[in-house]
Amino acid sequence: MAPRTSPEVGGMGHSVKRKEDPRFIRGKGTYVDDVVLPGMLYLDIVRSPFAHAKIKKIDPASATAIPGVLAVITGKDLEKYNLHWMPTLMSDTQMVLPVEKVMYQAQEVAAVLATSRYAAADGVAAVEVEYEPLPVVVDPKKALEPGAPVLRTDKKDKKDNHIWHWEWGDKAKTDRAFAEADVTVKEDIYIPRIHVASIETCGCVAHFDKVNDKLTVWMTTQAPHAIRTVFALVAGHVGLAEHKIRIISPDIGGGFGGKVPVYPGYVIAVAASVLTGKPVKWIEDRMENLQADSFARDYHITAELAARKDGTLTALRIKTLADHGYTDAAANPSKFPAGLFHVCTGSYDLKAAHVEVDGAYTNKPPGGIAYRCSFRVTEAVHTIERMVDIMAHQLGTDPAEFRMKNFVKPEQFPYKSALGWEYDSGNYAGALQKAMERIGYAELRREQAEKRKRGQLMGIGISSFTEIVGAGPSKHFDILGLKMFDSCEIRIHPTGKAIARFGTKSQGQGHETTYAQILAEELGIPAKDIQVEEGDTDTAPYGLGTYASRSTPVAGAAAAIASRKVLDKARKIAAYLLEAAPEDLVYEPGKFSVKGAPNRVKTIQEIAFAAYTNHPQGMEAGLEAVSYYDPPNLTYPFGSYICVVDIDTGTGDVKVRRFVAIDDCGNIINPMIVEGQVHGGLTMGLAPALLEEISYDEYGNVQGGSFIDYLLPTAVETPKWETGNTVTPSPHHPLGAKGVGESATVGAPAAIANAVVDALWHLGVRHVDIPITPPKIWKLLRAKGITD
Ligand code: CDP
Repeated sequence: MAPRTSPEVGGMGHSVKRKEDPRFIRGKGTYVDDVVLPGMLYLDIVRSPFAHAKIKKIDPASATAIPGVLAVITGKDLEKYNLHWMPTLMSDTQMVLPVEKVMYQAQEVAAVLATSRYAAADGVAAVEVEYEPLPVVVDPKKALEPGAPVLRTDKKDKKDNHIWHWEWGDKAKTDRAFAEADVTVKEDIYIPRIHVASIETCGCVAHFDKVNDKLTVWMTTQAPHAIRTVFALVAGHVGLAEHKIRIISPDIGGGFGGKVPVYPGYVIAVAASVLTGKPVKWIEDRMENLQADSFARDYHITAELAARKDGTLTALRIKTLADHGYTDAAANPSKFPAGLFHVCTGSYDLKAAHVEVDGAYTNKPPGGIAYRCSFRVTEAVHTIERMVDIMAHQLGTDPAEFRMKNFVKPEQFPYKSALGWEYDSGNYAGALQKAMERIGYAELRREQAEKRKRGQLMGIGISSFTEIVGAGPSKHFDILGLKMFDSCEIRIHPTGKAIARFGTKSQGQGHETTYAQILAEELGIPAKDIQVEEGDTDTAPYGLGTYASRSTPVAGAAAAIASRKVLDKARKIAAYLLEAAPEDLVYEPGKFSVKGAPNRVKTIQEIAFAAYTNHPQGMEAGLEAVSYYDPPNLTYPFGSYICVVDIDTGTGDVKVRRFVAIDDCGNIINPMIVEGQVHGGLTMGLAPALLEEISYDEYGNVQGGSFIDYLLPTAVETPKWETGNTVTPSPHHPLGAKGVGESATVGAPAAIANAVVDALWHLGVRHVDIPITPPKIWKLLRAKGITD
């Protein structure tokens, strides 16, 4: 569809260059570590070498003897203010600093406050801690066995390591469908722990101004307003009221869900600043970030799929064990402890489904964050896309043909899934067809058959995913009781330039550009004349922040609605200036004209000037509006990805030869930014498919706690992504847009895993857990006698 505005205005559909990039590519961004205040002190953290141990003694003497070290802060110090524990976003509790015992390796044990970063680090090395190791529970299955050591001894009535049981769907109907099925398949699928590993680690500068009694915290947070409220709720009893707290989230070097939680370092820095009256900076190093910050995934899934012998899918049954580490600190909506995992029927018209999830405590750091994913949708997509592939192979049907047969059809939208979601719009067959044409699917299948005869291993994998983004409608979505609306406030200045502030917070997605484009689309003010601000709780309207691809579906909609409120007033002013009735005016972006007299025109800039200089008697001056948008539904972006892999029979190495990604995020605001989001997302999907995993040995020692072992994809491992789009607008979003930021991360791993299994199915391989590393494949090939 051709854009409605000119390139000079730069509304929707224009690839406007990112406004933030001149700042970023010249190294002129302002990240938390760039904040330097006079008299600032530095905090560094002593961390536990044990995964589970009693703390017998903390001796600060050698540390405080180091020049520049001012204090060693322990859990006992915080206990005096009842700040040694804090609530998590899932209403569990998490230690700020321990008083009795540590629960995972690299947990915070004490903090050192010093006049320089170096003195603080020397202090950390000098603090002497005496530990008494306790039995370690690493495997969540063993954690739930009778007789397993109970980890949360702080919870008086807790007699086991079970956190919660959650189930959804019609069990009886699902069981009946399985009993009546002609074919069923069952598979155990493990989706391992991974870490977002953003370029910037976490950190803050806390400054308690004793004169004005005000706390300002610059911090790496994706949700500044929610953090302000949490701080006020947790520390209200020590005098930190919400109007005396200002959270500033400056430029952020990647968040991906990892910067939603409150980490102990933030709280200790705030406490240290309140006690000393000095600014306190805490910045994690890379290993602290990888070893102690929240993790994603870690789902142990058993899935079953049922079908008729004609290949019609009928039912899905899933049981999952979720390893949450020692506390449930996932940032899920309150009502859904397993996030949005129950979107697991995916793109398929299943008549019955039932899901059960159990959470378990283990001696690991908190897990369960939404890594570039709408809570648990990546786990859901991986499961259904793997299962559909297994069923297709089992029935001897081509996986593309099998999907085409079972897709929800365009005429079925709005579609109510067996697990209760109402999908807004979709054309799944259209996206798959386009991907198949682009990659030359039929020819690839011929090539594969040829190669197989020669003993070569080539696989073709499809992932036709359905995403669920835009949390969320307040009737279903809250975090700690805060409804998940979002906001936009617009002020048009007398000269026709504008400022718009939002409750979200970009971490690299380009909001300064795309929000300005939404306003340009609606108001006709050029995007370059619109300043977008986010992240300062003293100025921005309240919002729940940016994660789970909610910015476009929720705050983007707020921008459109606020713009339309501005236009309502602008119409009245234009009518006054043109001496016509408001209903006799015709609007096109940027100007009102009189019906039948197109030369009688007032531009938005003229109207803005009049709003301050010549507005009708009785009307308030100014041209401003605010919207707090509560979406009526989520948006359901989708896509079809096709991946071609070649497997080296000698080494087990998997090479992604081609990868075609067709995405549909409804109407597109900025095609260049969407393409960038998909490129980055695909690389973040390739990562867990082939490389990344955080595991633990039996003592709870983290494996993969540095970039030596935690393998991020570099340009060398990243194939040339071939991207494209279909456009199926959302019927309920004011701009017809859906989110896109995480689609590729969600959809890509299954395409790669399906391609690998497709290459090996004829050898009797049904499933390979990600990450699909060369040793894993080599062992399989050796067992099958393919290599020696
Ligand atoms: O919440 P987050 O910004 O991470 O995700 P998003 O809403 O999916 O948007 C990611 C980026 O893509 C933003 O800059 C959006 O404005 C842009 N986008 C777009 O240009 N068109 C869409 N239909 C969806 C997102």
